[in-house]
Parts: sequence; structure tokens; C-alpha cells
Amino acid sequence: MTKPVILTGIRSNEEPTIANYLGAFLPIIDMQKKFSGEYQINMFVPDLHSFNTPIDHTALYRNTLNNVKYFIAAGLNLDDPSTFVYRQSFIPAHSELAWILNNFTYMGEMGRMTQFKEKSSEHSESVTVGLFDYPVLMAADILLYNAKYVPVGEDQFQHLEITRDIATRFNNKFGDIFTVPDNTANQMKFINRDNGLRIRSLTDPTKKMSKSSSDVKSKILLVDEPEAARKKILSATTDSLGVINFDWETQPGITNLLQMLAILSGRAQDDVNEEWVGKTAYGDFKKAVAEEVVKFLTDFQAKLNAITDEALVAKLEVSESAMANVANETLLRAQRVVGLRP
Ligand code: TYM
Repeated sequence: MTKPVILTGIRSNEEPTIANYLGAFLPIIDMQKKFSGEYQINMFVPDLHSFNTPIDHTALYRNTLNNVKYFIAAGLNLDDPSTFVYRQSFIPAHSELAWILNNFTYMGEMGRMTQFKEKSSEHSESVTVGLFDYPVLMAADILLYNAKYVPVGEDQFQHLEITRDIATRFNNKFGDIFTVPDNTANQMKFINRDNGLRIRSLTDPTKKMSKSSSDVKSKILLVDEPEAARKKILSATTDSLGVINFDWETQPGITNLLQMLAILSGRAQDDVNEEWVGKTAYGDFKKAVAEEVVKFLTDFQAKLNAITDEALVAKLEVSESAMANVANETLLRAQRVVGLRP
């Protein structure tokens, strides 16, 4: 029997942040540990997605390999035969299916994508067709492997929903070609969270922490020196209310830190809140959060430094060959029904 597929990806446009780890790496790695062998795990690097906004192209190939290393340092077990790590551009079926799906996707629905609106206003001098179209490529990434669960941060929920819409539309027209991934509410239940995760910027907690932000104090990179990360937490923007409270509306900075503390320490949010809510010493609280971040980064980076390129490339090649077969089967089903193949 084929195993249900859990799939996620992280672009190699910039160094990943602790928000990427908490939003996307941790849920899938937790699932792997909890249900060892029951699911197929696909963790891939959408390298073709990585330059829909300007990047340093001389660093792309290296960053892509590094991202795979980050999966491993975060705890992904590559010895599990049901776990696959791969690079999107090494499996050409991704771009081929995306092109087919483009013709079953409407400008109107794509124009509503919040990420496109936000990113196109940030990069208004260079809004590319790639930036506009990337949710369709993301749909292909998911549908090629019949994925049921796609752990992502809250900023990607809209893209998951459009994937479901495209797949359902295609299936209604041509029969059961694609597995439609679960809706976002079920995705959350599956990874045992109440809602989508959105870690906030440390300097402007009304915004999400973003790896592409030029404000280095707003984000903690997975490769930040632990002591530099400690300083960023200690100087994180909070508020002048003077009492710790879990409230995204009035105290987003403090609430963001409470949330990070809970997830990083593996404790329930209620438990962490019980310890800190009502207290007035922001300094002590920040020290506790900073300590947890330092602990996490120290451990993560020790694991990262022990990973060799050789072991990585060997696993990538095996995974890419196996996943190309799966992807090509799905692509062929789609090519047949649209009339490209007999
Ligand atoms: P990307 O590379 O921008 O981000 C990778 C993952 O990190 C999550 N994330 C966050 N989670 C919580 N708080 C934040 N502040 C935060 N910022 C980012 C993202 O939600 C994401 O899960 N389009 C995707 C990559 C992609 C993909 C896919 C994901 C391409 N194809 C197929 C899943 C399945 C992206 O741009 O993620």
C-alpha cells in the first residue's frame, strides 16, 4: 500500500530563519519522529522559486545544497527509506506540469494572492511574471507527488488553497488525476496546532519575520552566532504596557516571544503563559527566551557542521531518481487527458 505523503519545501533565496524552522521544518520532522515509517516524507528545495525576486545568482547552487543540510541539522532522518530530499529543478516534471496547470488557472484568482501583492510592492521596480505565477509552480510541486499534508507557515495557506482549487477544477474536467491535499484546517489538526504559524519580525512585530528582509535585527538566521542572536532577542521591540500578556492585538512583540519560547522549549503555550503572563519584568522574560534560542542554535549548528557534502549528494541523487519516476507518472496522466500523449 502506498503511504500518505507529507511534503514541504523551502526556497534557497536567502539564509533561512528560525521562523522557517518553526513554521515548516519542525512540523514535518516531528511527524517523521512520531509516525516513523507510516508516512512518506518529501522535503525539497524549490530552487526554481528562488529567484522570482532578485538574488545573488552566484550563491544559489550553494544555498540550495545548504538548505538540504539544514533539513538534516534540524533532525530529518535521511536513513528512513520513506524520506526523500530533492531539488525541484533536477526533476523537470515540475516546470512541465506547471505549464499545463497555467492553462487551468485564472488571472483573477492569482491576482488575489496576498504574497504577490506584498512582494510586488516591495520590489516594484522589478515585478516579474515568475513572481506572479509561482503559486502555480507550487501547485505542481504538491500535486506531482500526491501529497496529502503540506506543513507550511500561515503565509502559504492561500497558495495551498489555490492548489486545492486548481486540482479540483482539473479533476472535475478530466477525472481523478490529482490527489487534492487536505484543507488548511485539517492540516493544522494533523500537526497538532490551533492555527497557522506566523513568527513576527523582532523589530516590527506587526509584520512577519522574513528571510528576505534587509533589516538584520528583525530576523534570527539559523547560522547566526548564538551570542548575536541573544542580543537580537534582548533588544526585540515590545511595548510600554509593562505587563506580560498573550495578546496579538495589543502586545504582538511580547506575544511573539511567548510563542517562540513555547515551541522552542517543546512546552504547551498555556504552560508557558501560566509561568509568565502577569509578570512585569520584561528583561527577565527576554533573557529566558534568549537562552532558549541560544540553546537551539548551538545544538543546530553543531549538527550542521558535522554534515559532509558527499553524504548529502549521494542521498539527493537516489531521491531525485526515485521521485522523478513518481513525478513523471503523474505528469503523464495529466499529459494524456489534455491530449498531449496518446
Ligand atoms: P519560503 O521559502 O518563503 O518559506 C519556507 C517556509 O517557512 C514558512 N515561513 C514562516 N512560518 C512562520 N512564520 C514566519 N514568519 C514564516 N516565514 C516563512 C513558510 O510558510 C514556508 O512554509 N512557496 C514556498 C515554498 C514552496 C513550497 C512548495 C512549500 C514552493 N513549493 C510546495 C510547500 C510545498 C515559499 O515561498 O516558502
